[in-house]
Amino acid sequence: MIYAEILAGGTGTRFGNKDLPKQYMMLGSKPIIIHTIEQFVISPKIDKIIICTPKEWINYTEDIINKYIENYDNIEVVEGGSTRNESIMSGLNHIKEKYGITKKDIVVTHDAVRPFINQRIIDDNIKAITSCDAIDTAIPATDTIIDTGLDTVIDGDGNDFMIESIPNRSSLWYGQTPQTFKITKLIDMYNSLTNEEKEILTDACKIFVLKGENVKIVKGETFNMKITNVFDLKMAEAILMERLND
Ligand code: CTP
Repeated sequence: MIYAEILAGGTGTRFGNKDLPKQYMMLGSKPIIIHTIEQFVISPKIDKIIICTPKEWINYTEDIINKYIENYDNIEVVEGGSTRNESIMSGLNHIKEKYGITKKDIVVTHDAVRPFINQRIIDDNIKAITSCDAIDTAIPATDTIIDTGLDTVIDGDGNDFMIESIPNRSSLWYGQTPQTFKITKLIDMYNSLTNEEKEILTDACKIFVLKGENVKIVKGETFNMKITNVFDLKMAEAILMERLND
């Protein structure tokens, strides 16, 4: 079976809209998350779609799926977790309990707030996972990345910290999603982590990389952007307008 997990368990603190997590905000005529789900609904390769949301948003999510999506028989909404990885694991627990898991089963995990995912990226992820246990989607970096060596982003004037290093841009890529995994392998890897490691390893592919496992890259797209803040939503609206006018 090929499952899609749409990760919508966050509350969008950087977006700053307290009453409505960003994945439910309108983008054009429908909520951001609906654009995302639609791409998995129309993929003939995906057998089931699991949506992981905060507990208090489960009913709301079911309501909007009902309202906006015609064929939602293979969609299930479950409670996410306290971190992005915990949301992934929570969706996998649901799959395990309801359907059982075999070595062949695959999960395509995708951020609910990347509404411009397309069929080419989904197909390439599914093709690539036949030759590797973990797949990441990424695009070559266009900005120079500066490493402060600090583990937090400092807001404010920012004149009291320094550059530790500037890695060579030609080898750097921007990570996107989907990230696709053989389910049994991902569960084994995650369960092998200590609580401390779980805190640091916020990205599921990073677990594989740090444990010395291969992760293949599928090319993403610049437009497969993540909506993190208000500016991103404006950008997404511009992309959508341009598509509608084409
Ligand atoms: N996510 C999730 N479960 C969590 C945290 C995040 O499923 N416990 C999801 C988000 O809903 C989002 C995706 O992971 O679709 C990418 O995360 P991010 O953009 O960081 O979303 P938020 O955590 O909502 O945002 P913020 O970090 O600003 O709070």
